[in-house]
Amino acid sequence: MSAEPTRTVELPPNPSRRQLLAAIFGLWGVAGAGLAVPLVRYLLAPLTMTTPVSEIPTAQLDLATAALTERWKPLTLEVAHRDAWLESGKRLVSVYARQMGPDVQVLSGTCTHLGCHVNWEDAKNKFHCPCHAGEYDAEGKVLAGPPPKPLAKLPARIEAGNLVVELPVGVA
Ligand code: FES
Repeated sequence: MSAEPTRTVELPPNPSRRQLLAAIFGLWGVAGAGLAVPLVRYLLAPLTMTTPVSEIPTAQLDLATAALTERWKPLTLEVAHRDAWLESGKRLVSVYARQMGPDVQVLSGTCTHLGCHVNWEDAKNKFHCPCHAGEYDAEGKVLAGPPPKPLAKLPARIEAGNLVVELPVGVA
């Protein structure tokens, strides 16, 4: 009687329960990491966000009606009030403007203490806030009183005979 040769049959690997769980958790980890990247970017976005130039509201004033000199001149600008894409009326913004050589300079007329309207006192060469006696010099720097910071300088330019003033949110 001859012995038959033994044959070994290789069975496909049978993953254990532990390997299966490891694979599931591994896939979970990859999916979680994939979702975490946009979530972290979303949460950190406010730290790096700037208002695109095209979204900064601007106001225009025909310089023919408001000839500027080297003395501060009070101007009232009309700005479209916009919430997201809804335009809901106009608001008035008080500023001071002057022409210094080729440059036009514009200061916000809003006191940096509690938001009252400041008055330019030409004879005293300073701005005065009637609410709490805040005072600013001719460059808008704080001279006296409670204002915590200078009057805001607003970017401005002359375009086709118009004074164009940029009004960043919260400034004017
Ligand atoms: S609001 Fe101007 S000094 Fe207080």
